[in-house]
Amino acid sequence: MATARANANIAFIKYWGNRDERLRLPVNPSISMNLGGLYAETTVDWDRTLISDSLGLNGREESGAALDRVTIHLNVLRERLGFSTYARVESANNFPTGAGIASSAAAFAALTVAGTAAAGASLSERELTTLARLGSGSASRSVPTGFVEWHAADQHEASYAESIAAPDYWDIVDVIAVVSKKHKDVGSSTGHKSANTSDLQTARVAGAGERFTRCKQAILNRDFTAFAEVVEHDSNLMHAVMMTSRPPLFYWLPPTLAIMDNVRQWRSEGLRVCYTLDAGPNVHCICVRDDAYAVSERLRASSDVLDVLVAPPGDGAKVIVP
Ligand code: DP6
Repeated sequence: MATARANANIAFIKYWGNRDERLRLPVNPSISMNLGGLYAETTVDWDRTLISDSLGLNGREESGAALDRVTIHLNVLRERLGFSTYARVESANNFPTGAGIASSAAAFAALTVAGTAAAGASLSERELTTLARLGSGSASRSVPTGFVEWHAADQHEASYAESIAAPDYWDIVDVIAVVSKKHKDVGSSTGHKSANTSDLQTARVAGAGERFTRCKQAILNRDFTAFAEVVEHDSNLMHAVMMTSRPPLFYWLPPTLAIMDNVRQWRSEGLRVCYTLDAGPNVHCICVRDDAYAVSERLRASSDVLDVLVAPPGDGAKVIVP
Protein backbone atom coordinates (compact mmCIF):
# COMPACT_ATOMS: atom_id res chain seq x y z
CA MET A 1 0.00 0.00 0.00
CA ALA A 2 1.26 3.52 -0.81
CA THR A 3 -0.09 7.06 -1.07
CA ALA A 4 1.04 9.62 -3.65
CA ARG A 5 0.25 13.27 -4.18
CA ALA A 6 0.22 14.90 -7.62
CA ASN A 7 -0.56 18.48 -8.52
CA ALA A 8 -2.90 19.47 -11.33
CA ASN A 9 -1.26 21.33 -14.21
CA ILE A 10 -2.23 24.12 -16.58
CA ALA A 11 -1.14 23.83 -20.21
CA PHE A 12 0.43 26.86 -21.87
CA ILE A 13 0.69 25.03 -25.21
CA LYS A 14 -2.31 22.72 -25.40
CA TYR A 15 -2.69 19.01 -26.02
CA TRP A 16 -5.77 18.58 -28.22
CA GLY A 17 -6.09 15.51 -30.44
CA ASN A 18 -4.26 12.17 -30.58
CA ARG A 19 -2.40 10.41 -33.36
CA ASP A 20 -3.16 7.15 -31.49
CA GLU A 21 -6.23 7.19 -29.23
CA ARG A 22 -5.45 3.98 -27.35
CA LEU A 23 -1.89 4.97 -26.50
CA ARG A 24 -2.77 8.66 -26.08
CA LEU A 25 0.03 9.72 -28.39
CA PRO A 26 -0.67 13.43 -28.95
CA VAL A 27 -0.62 15.13 -32.34
CA ASN A 28 1.52 17.96 -30.96
CA PRO A 29 3.95 18.59 -28.11
CA SER A 30 2.69 20.60 -25.14
CA ILE A 31 4.02 22.63 -22.21
CA SER A 32 2.54 23.15 -18.77
CA MET A 33 3.14 24.29 -15.23
CA ASN A 34 2.22 22.21 -12.21
CA LEU A 35 -0.27 23.95 -9.93
CA GLY A 36 1.18 23.99 -6.43
CA GLY A 37 -1.43 23.24 -3.77
CA LEU A 38 -4.11 21.93 -6.17
CA TYR A 39 -3.62 18.21 -5.93
CA ALA A 40 -5.01 14.71 -5.88
CA GLU A 41 -3.96 12.32 -3.15
CA THR A 42 -4.33 8.69 -4.02
CA THR A 43 -3.79 5.52 -2.02
CA VAL A 44 -3.41 2.18 -3.78
CA ASP A 45 -3.64 -1.08 -1.88
CA TRP A 46 -2.89 -4.21 -3.92
CA ASP A 47 -4.70 -6.82 -1.89
CA ARG A 48 -4.71 -10.54 -2.76
CA THR A 49 -8.02 -11.06 -0.93
CA LEU A 50 -9.95 -8.72 -3.30
CA ILE A 51 -12.12 -10.15 -6.06
CA SER A 52 -12.30 -6.89 -8.06
CA ASP A 53 -10.88 -3.34 -8.12
CA SER A 54 -12.73 -0.66 -6.18
CA LEU A 55 -12.55 3.14 -6.14
CA GLY A 56 -13.43 5.74 -3.52
CA LEU A 57 -13.43 9.28 -4.94
CA ASN A 58 -13.69 12.20 -2.52
CA GLY A 59 -15.22 9.84 0.02
CA ARG A 60 -17.84 8.38 -2.35
CA GLU A 61 -17.82 4.83 -3.67
CA GLU A 62 -17.65 4.93 -7.49
CA SER A 63 -18.89 2.42 -10.06
CA GLY A 64 -19.53 2.71 -13.79
CA ALA A 65 -17.35 4.88 -16.03
CA ALA A 66 -15.07 6.30 -13.32
CA LEU A 67 -14.25 2.85 -11.94
CA ASP A 68 -13.87 1.39 -15.46
CA ARG A 69 -11.28 4.03 -16.36
CA VAL A 70 -9.31 3.32 -13.18
CA THR A 71 -9.51 -0.45 -13.80
CA ILE A 72 -8.16 0.03 -17.33
CA HIS A 73 -5.22 1.94 -15.87
CA LEU A 74 -4.69 -0.62 -13.13
CA ASN A 75 -4.53 -3.24 -15.94
CA VAL A 76 -1.70 -1.22 -17.51
CA LEU A 77 0.12 -1.15 -14.17
CA ARG A 78 -0.54 -4.87 -13.53
CA GLU A 79 0.87 -5.75 -16.93
CA ARG A 80 4.00 -3.64 -16.35
CA LEU A 81 4.48 -4.95 -12.80
CA GLY A 82 3.86 -8.57 -13.72
CA PHE A 83 1.01 -9.57 -11.40
CA SER A 84 -2.78 -9.81 -11.49
CA THR A 85 -3.82 -8.74 -7.97
CA TYR A 86 -6.79 -6.37 -7.63
CA ALA A 87 -6.54 -3.03 -5.87
CA ARG A 88 -8.47 -0.77 -3.54
CA VAL A 89 -7.99 2.84 -4.69
CA GLU A 90 -8.91 5.86 -2.56
CA SER A 91 -8.50 9.27 -4.16
CA ALA A 92 -9.38 12.82 -3.17
CA ASN A 93 -8.92 16.18 -4.88
CA ASN A 94 -8.75 19.43 -2.98
CA PHE A 95 -10.23 21.40 -5.91
CA PRO A 96 -13.54 21.21 -7.87
CA THR A 97 -13.64 18.12 -10.09
CA GLY A 98 -14.51 18.41 -13.79
CA ALA A 99 -14.55 22.20 -14.19
CA GLY A 100 -11.49 23.00 -16.28
CA ILE A 101 -8.91 22.36 -13.60
CA ALA A 102 -7.34 19.21 -14.94
CA SER A 103 -8.51 16.70 -12.33
CA SER A 104 -7.68 13.71 -14.53
CA ALA A 105 -4.07 14.87 -14.80
CA ALA A 106 -3.54 14.96 -11.05
CA ALA A 107 -5.57 11.77 -10.56
CA PHE A 108 -3.73 9.56 -13.07
CA ALA A 109 -0.29 10.92 -12.12
CA ALA A 110 -1.02 10.11 -8.45
CA LEU A 111 -2.53 6.71 -9.35
CA THR A 112 0.53 5.74 -11.40
CA VAL A 113 3.04 6.83 -8.76
CA ALA A 114 1.08 5.29 -5.86
CA GLY A 115 0.33 2.07 -7.77
CA THR A 116 3.94 1.38 -8.71
CA ALA A 117 5.28 2.38 -5.27
CA ALA A 118 2.69 0.16 -3.55
CA ALA A 119 4.07 -2.78 -5.52
CA GLY A 120 7.60 -1.96 -4.34
CA ALA A 121 8.72 -1.09 -7.89
CA SER A 122 10.97 1.89 -8.48
CA LEU A 123 10.58 3.03 -12.08
CA SER A 124 12.36 5.94 -13.73
CA GLU A 125 10.54 9.27 -13.85
CA ARG A 126 10.52 9.00 -17.63
CA GLU A 127 8.73 5.67 -17.58
CA LEU A 128 6.26 6.93 -14.96
CA THR A 129 5.34 9.79 -17.31
CA THR A 130 4.62 7.37 -20.17
CA LEU A 131 2.52 5.11 -17.93
CA ALA A 132 0.59 8.10 -16.53
CA ARG A 133 -0.02 9.24 -20.15
CA LEU A 134 -1.89 6.01 -20.89
CA GLY A 135 -4.41 6.95 -18.16
CA SER A 136 -4.80 10.59 -19.16
CA GLY A 137 -2.55 12.41 -21.61
CA SER A 138 -2.04 15.50 -19.49
CA ALA A 139 -1.20 13.31 -16.46
CA SER A 140 2.21 12.70 -18.02
CA ARG A 141 2.98 16.38 -17.35
CA SER A 142 1.99 16.18 -13.66
CA VAL A 143 4.77 13.68 -12.89
CA PRO A 144 7.92 15.86 -13.38
CA THR A 145 8.46 19.04 -11.36
CA GLY A 146 7.75 22.69 -12.17
CA PHE A 147 7.53 23.66 -15.84
CA VAL A 148 7.16 20.58 -18.03
CA GLU A 149 7.26 19.64 -21.70
CA TRP A 150 5.60 16.53 -23.14
CA HIS A 151 7.06 15.16 -26.35
CA ALA A 152 4.84 14.13 -29.25
CA ALA A 153 6.05 10.91 -30.90
CA ASP A 154 4.89 7.81 -32.77
CA GLN A 155 6.10 5.31 -30.15
CA HIS A 156 4.93 4.79 -26.57
CA GLU A 157 8.42 5.11 -25.01
CA ALA A 158 9.26 8.28 -26.94
CA SER A 159 6.18 10.26 -25.88
CA TYR A 160 7.33 11.18 -22.38
CA ALA A 161 7.36 14.33 -20.27
CA GLU A 162 10.29 16.06 -18.60
CA SER A 163 10.90 19.16 -16.55
CA ILE A 164 12.29 22.20 -18.37
CA ALA A 165 12.60 24.36 -15.25
CA ALA A 166 12.18 23.97 -11.49
CA PRO A 167 9.18 25.59 -9.73
CA ASP A 168 11.31 28.45 -8.40
CA TYR A 169 12.76 29.26 -11.84
CA TRP A 170 10.12 31.86 -12.66
CA ASP A 171 7.86 33.73 -10.24
CA ILE A 172 4.55 33.42 -12.03
CA VAL A 173 1.27 32.25 -10.55
CA ASP A 174 -2.02 30.94 -11.87
CA VAL A 175 -4.93 32.97 -10.51
CA ILE A 176 -7.97 30.88 -11.43
CA ALA A 177 -11.33 32.59 -11.81
CA VAL A 178 -13.91 29.89 -11.06
CA VAL A 179 -17.15 30.76 -12.86
CA SER A 180 -18.72 27.30 -12.65
CA LYS A 181 -18.28 24.31 -10.38
CA LYS A 182 -20.49 22.04 -12.47
CA HIS A 183 -19.07 18.84 -13.92
CA LYS A 184 -18.59 19.44 -17.63
CA ASP A 185 -20.92 17.67 -20.07
CA VAL A 186 -18.28 16.60 -22.57
CA GLY A 187 -14.95 15.40 -21.21
CA SER A 188 -11.56 15.84 -22.85
CA SER A 189 -11.32 12.22 -23.99
CA THR A 190 -14.42 12.68 -26.18
CA GLY A 191 -13.12 16.06 -27.33
CA HIS A 192 -9.76 14.68 -28.47
CA LYS A 193 -11.59 12.19 -30.69
CA SER A 194 -13.55 14.94 -32.42
CA ALA A 195 -10.63 17.35 -32.93
CA ASN A 196 -10.12 16.14 -36.51
CA THR A 197 -13.71 16.98 -37.43
CA SER A 198 -12.75 20.68 -37.28
CA ASP A 199 -11.30 22.15 -40.48
CA LEU A 200 -9.09 24.27 -38.22
CA GLN A 201 -7.26 21.39 -36.49
CA THR A 202 -4.79 20.93 -39.37
CA ALA A 203 -3.82 24.60 -39.15
CA ARG A 204 -3.58 24.50 -35.35
CA VAL A 205 -1.31 21.45 -35.44
CA ALA A 206 0.83 22.85 -38.27
CA GLY A 207 1.83 25.83 -36.11
CA ALA A 208 2.06 24.00 -32.79
CA GLY A 209 5.76 23.14 -33.02
CA GLU A 210 6.66 26.77 -33.58
CA ARG A 211 4.44 27.98 -30.72
CA PHE A 212 5.93 25.27 -28.49
CA THR A 213 9.45 26.58 -29.19
CA ARG A 214 8.41 30.21 -28.63
CA CYS A 215 6.68 29.34 -25.36
CA LYS A 216 9.61 27.30 -24.06
CA GLN A 217 12.02 30.13 -24.91
CA ALA A 218 9.76 32.70 -23.25
CA ILE A 219 9.73 30.61 -20.05
CA LEU A 220 13.49 30.04 -20.12
CA ASN A 221 14.05 33.80 -20.76
CA ARG A 222 11.36 34.78 -18.21
CA ASP A 223 9.96 36.99 -20.96
CA PHE A 224 6.35 37.67 -19.93
CA THR A 225 5.44 39.73 -23.00
CA ALA A 226 6.42 36.96 -25.43
CA PHE A 227 4.87 34.36 -23.13
CA ALA A 228 1.48 36.16 -22.89
CA GLU A 229 1.23 36.51 -26.65
CA VAL A 230 1.83 32.83 -27.46
CA VAL A 231 -0.17 31.43 -24.52
CA GLU A 232 -3.36 33.38 -25.31
CA HIS A 233 -3.01 32.60 -29.01
CA ASP A 234 -2.57 28.87 -28.39
CA SER A 235 -5.61 28.77 -26.08
CA ASN A 236 -7.71 30.68 -28.64
CA LEU A 237 -6.66 28.25 -31.37
CA MET A 238 -7.66 25.22 -29.32
CA HIS A 239 -11.05 26.74 -28.49
CA ALA A 240 -11.56 27.67 -32.15
CA VAL A 241 -11.03 23.97 -32.99
CA MET A 242 -13.44 22.92 -30.23
CA MET A 243 -16.15 25.34 -31.39
CA THR A 244 -15.83 24.25 -35.02
CA SER A 245 -15.78 20.51 -34.34
CA ARG A 246 -18.81 18.45 -35.34
CA PRO A 247 -20.71 18.39 -33.05
CA PRO A 248 -19.34 21.70 -31.72
CA LEU A 249 -17.93 22.00 -28.21
CA PHE A 250 -18.52 25.32 -26.46
CA TYR A 251 -16.76 25.36 -23.12
CA TRP A 252 -17.08 29.13 -22.58
CA LEU A 253 -19.85 30.69 -20.53
CA PRO A 254 -20.68 34.41 -20.86
CA PRO A 255 -18.50 35.31 -17.81
CA THR A 256 -15.59 33.44 -19.41
CA LEU A 257 -15.48 35.85 -22.34
CA ALA A 258 -15.99 38.87 -20.09
CA ILE A 259 -12.97 37.87 -17.98
CA MET A 260 -10.83 37.23 -21.08
CA ASP A 261 -11.70 40.78 -22.24
CA ASN A 262 -10.84 42.19 -18.82
CA VAL A 263 -7.50 40.40 -18.74
CA ARG A 264 -6.49 41.91 -22.09
CA GLN A 265 -7.60 45.33 -20.83
CA TRP A 266 -5.64 44.96 -17.56
CA ARG A 267 -2.56 43.98 -19.55
CA SER A 268 -2.86 47.09 -21.70
CA GLU A 269 -2.96 49.07 -18.43
CA GLY A 270 0.34 47.52 -17.34
CA LEU A 271 -0.55 44.41 -15.31
CA ARG A 272 1.50 41.41 -16.38
CA VAL A 273 -1.34 38.93 -16.85
CA CYS A 274 -2.63 36.71 -19.64
CA TYR A 275 -5.37 34.09 -19.86
CA THR A 276 -5.57 30.45 -20.87
CA LEU A 277 -8.47 28.01 -20.69
CA ASP A 278 -8.61 24.23 -20.62
CA ALA A 279 -11.70 22.19 -21.48
CA GLY A 280 -13.95 24.19 -19.17
CA PRO A 281 -15.28 27.69 -18.49
CA ASN A 282 -12.88 28.73 -15.71
CA VAL A 283 -10.25 31.28 -16.67
CA HIS A 284 -6.64 30.68 -15.71
CA CYS A 285 -5.07 34.14 -15.33
CA ILE A 286 -1.33 33.61 -15.45
CA CYS A 287 0.47 36.55 -13.85
CA VAL A 288 3.82 37.67 -12.61
CA ARG A 289 3.68 37.20 -8.83
CA ASP A 290 3.95 40.95 -8.10
CA ASP A 291 0.71 41.52 -10.03
CA ALA A 292 -1.20 38.50 -8.69
CA TYR A 293 -2.81 40.34 -5.79
CA ALA A 294 -4.16 43.11 -8.04
CA VAL A 295 -5.50 40.51 -10.49
CA SER A 296 -7.18 38.41 -7.80
CA GLU A 297 -8.77 41.51 -6.20
CA ARG A 298 -10.18 42.60 -9.56
CA LEU A 299 -11.53 39.11 -10.21
CA ARG A 300 -13.10 38.88 -6.76
CA ALA A 301 -14.89 42.18 -7.40
CA SER A 302 -16.88 40.56 -10.22
CA SER A 303 -20.23 39.01 -9.31
CA ASP A 304 -19.63 36.36 -12.01
CA VAL A 305 -16.65 34.94 -10.15
CA LEU A 306 -17.65 32.27 -7.63
CA ASP A 307 -14.19 31.68 -6.29
CA VAL A 308 -10.55 32.58 -6.93
CA LEU A 309 -7.84 29.95 -6.53
CA VAL A 310 -4.17 30.92 -6.54
CA ALA A 311 -1.48 28.41 -7.48
CA PRO A 312 2.27 28.98 -7.78
CA PRO A 313 4.48 26.61 -9.82
CA GLY A 314 4.32 23.22 -8.10
CA ASP A 315 6.34 20.07 -7.55
CA GLY A 316 6.15 16.81 -9.41
CA ALA A 317 4.23 13.77 -8.19
CA LYS A 318 5.56 12.25 -4.98
CA VAL A 319 5.04 9.27 -2.73
CA ILE A 320 3.94 10.74 0.61
CA VAL A 321 3.21 7.52 2.51
CA PRO A 322 5.44 4.67 1.34
C1 DP6 B 1 -7.72 21.02 -22.77
O1 DP6 B 1 -5.41 14.94 -20.62
O2 DP6 B 1 -7.75 15.55 -19.92
O3 DP6 B 1 -6.69 20.34 -20.75
O4 DP6 B 1 -6.00 12.07 -22.26
O5 DP6 B 1 -8.44 12.06 -22.63
O6 DP6 B 1 -7.54 12.31 -20.30
P1 DP6 B 1 -7.33 12.57 -21.77
O7 DP6 B 1 -7.37 14.13 -21.96
P2 DP6 B 1 -6.78 15.27 -21.02
O8 DP6 B 1 -6.77 16.49 -22.04
C2 DP6 B 1 -6.36 17.74 -21.61
C3 DP6 B 1 -6.83 18.76 -22.56
C4 DP6 B 1 -6.60 20.20 -22.14
C5 DP6 B 1 -5.28 20.73 -22.66
C6 DP6 B 1 -4.04 20.28 -21.95
O9 DP6 B 1 -4.05 20.04 -20.72
O10 DP6 B 1 -3.00 20.22 -22.63
